[in-house]
This record gives sequence, structure tokens and C-alpha cells, in this order.
Amino acid sequence: MELGDGTRCVRAGLPEPVPGEPFLPGPVFAAPYHLDPAGPSPDRDGYARMDNPTRRRLESAIGELEGGDCLVFSSGQAAITGLLLSVLRPGDTALLPADGYYTVRAFAAATLRAQAVAVMLIPTAGPYPPLGGVRLVLLETPSNPGLEVCDIAAVAAIARAAGTLLAVDNTTATPLGQRPLALGADVVVGSGTKALAGHSDLLLGYLVTRDSAVLARLRQWRDQTGAVPGAFDAWLAHRSLATLDLRLERQSANAAAVATRLSSRSDVAGVRWPGLPGDRSHPVAARQMRRMPGVVSFDLGSADRVARFLAASRLVAAATSFGGLHTTADRRAQWGDDTSEGFVRLSCGIEDTDDLLADLSAALDATG
Ligand SMILES: Cc1ncc(COP(=O)(O)O)c(C=O)c1O
Repeated sequence: MELGDGTRCVRAGLPEPVPGEPFLPGPVFAAPYHLDPAGPSPDRDGYARMDNPTRRRLESAIGELEGGDCLVFSSGQAAITGLLLSVLRPGDTALLPADGYYTVRAFAAATLRAQAVAVMLIPTAGPYPPLGGVRLVLLETPSNPGLEVCDIAAVAAIARAAGTLLAVDNTTATPLGQRPLALGADVVVGSGTKALAGHSDLLLGYLVTRDSAVLARLRQWRDQTGAVPGAFDAWLAHRSLATLDLRLERQSANAAAVATRLSSRSDVAGVRWPGLPGDRSHPVAARQMRRMPGVVSFDLGSADRVARFLAASRLVAAATSFGGLHTTADRRAQWGDDTSEGFVRLSCGIEDTDDLLADLSAALDATG
């Protein structure tokens, strides 16, 4: 019998118990390590760009949760761009989300096109074109910020038939929300900066795969580019991972309550949350996701009303990230996302649901 999510999170990546040793050993701070005077040995740590035990423990933990072999990176962007640059060659075609995290599209425009990689931008909800001749597909589901969802297993089936590598950005769902490798994807990439680490105190990226050739290529890429997190950030992320199940449970419950409350208001438009039974992403989300994310999106009509709403709220902080302990909101158009001026991505924290609902309602009433 597979252990429950809470049990898996609290045990993930921990060493076997040794009397007198801590549960999670502290961070190992080193750049070089002492070498055997006779020369380096493959089973001893030599230099921290390649070797660090704190990082390896975090990789075991994330790998256990996603179901494959993990490499962690200095940020989500470092993981995603590392995947794109190490897999794609001039003349290749890559299919990327048209409505996903905007920096990935900006990177494609600035760097992939200059390397003669053709980029097709496809909306997350599809339809997906035939994949013959496409080297790599990157899905982002649920997408940030629109919370569209796509059927990973269906895209995996056409990708497999076409010999196309399928990667899924699992940032919003987290490995507890869905398991892309079990649904047929070849690679999971993501930002651990968001709900995975969840305390708004570090940047982290990760990649998980069961494909040994992809893993070897990405390891070489990371060894040579040096896009590794430091030992302290890796340790903090591992410590934080232990409570992922508890944090997601409250975030998701808060999102359900908030989405329902917002949907009932005539002064809030376009409420999206994949867990809402009436949401157009709900049927696929309910089938493939193990739990719903804590992120909700909606439209307050204008930039001015968003600013007044944020000023009036005591519990919703203006911040451009999501998945943290504190409830935050971000007006995405201010960063150049292709959203309306009043579009808000709200990330529910772990506050008490009643407090959050009361605060949101009061702030909306005050700015109606
Ligand atoms: C879906 C998604 N992928 C990747 C990233 C990039 O992650 P990072 O900020 O850790 O580089 C983000 C950041 O917001 C994101 O939302």
C-alpha cells in the first residue's frame, strides 16, 4: 500500500535513522572538499558545482514525490531554460504554452529563435496540432495565470506516437496535485519557489525524469553552467517540503471557499479555479489532478479597483509569486501578461478560512 501524502512528505529524502544523528542533517557548506592526496575519487565529493550532499537529499525527496530522478536548479527558470537549451538544436521545433508563465515565452523570443529553433505557441486548453517533426512539447497545467488545464495523458499519447519529448511544468499543481510522469510525460520541470518550498524565502527549480539520457544531458548542462541552488536554500526547501501536504490542504480549502464566495458577487467577473464544478477546466482537472491548487483568478474591472482592493485588505499582500504561506495577489497586466487590466491572480495562504473570507468581502465591499 502506498503511504499517504503527509507521510510521504515528512519522510521524503531523509537518511536512515542513526542514533545521535539529526532527522534532517544540516546544510553542508563547502565549495571544494578535501581531496584524497592521491587524487579525486568518484564516490567522494570534490567540488560543490557537481557535488553537495544537502542538494542530493533534496533531490531524493522531490524525486520520490514526482516518481523519477531529480536534479534541482537555482530557479524554475534555470531548470526550464536548461531543459530547452540542452534538448533543442537548430532546426528543431518546440511547442510551448501560449498562455503559460510569460518569461518562458520571452526566453523563446529572445534566445530560442536566435538559435534557429522554431517555436509554436499553443493555448493550454488546446486544440493540439499533430506533433510530427516537433522535438519537444512543454505543457503548463494548470497554467499561470489563467488556470487553464490540459489533458496530459492525451497529449502524451500523441507525443509518444510522434517521437516527441513531453515535458510538463508542474509548478502550480506540485507533485501532490498531479504526477505527470505517471500520466505519460517524459519530464517534469517546475519552480520550487512557489508552493513546493512555500515560505516565500528562496528560489528553486527542479527537473524529474525516468529517461536516463535526458537526465545525463541535464546533469552535464547543470555541471557546466553552474545553475545550482546553494546548500542553505536546498536545506530550507527540504525542511519546508515536510509540510507540503498540510499547507496545500489549507490553501486548497481556502481557494474553494474564496472561489465560491467571489463567484456569488456581481461586482467580480471571470472567476477561475479548476476545482469549481462549473469551471471549463473542471472535467479534465477532476480526472487527472489529485488535489486542486490554492490559486484563484478573477477580474475586478480596472487597475484602479485592484489597487484600492489591495489597500483595503488586511490579509491579502500585493506580491508577484504564489503558493506561499500568506495570501497574496498580483495584477498580472502590470508585468506585461496578456490579461485585462483588472485581472488578478490570488494565491490563498494558510490563514483561517473565515478570516480570509471576511477580509476579502470587506475589501471588495469597500471598493465596489
Ligand atoms: C509556472 C511557472 N513556471 C516557472 C516559473 C519560474 O520559476 P522561478 O521564478 O523559480 O524561476 C514560474 C514563476 O512564476 C511559474 O509560475
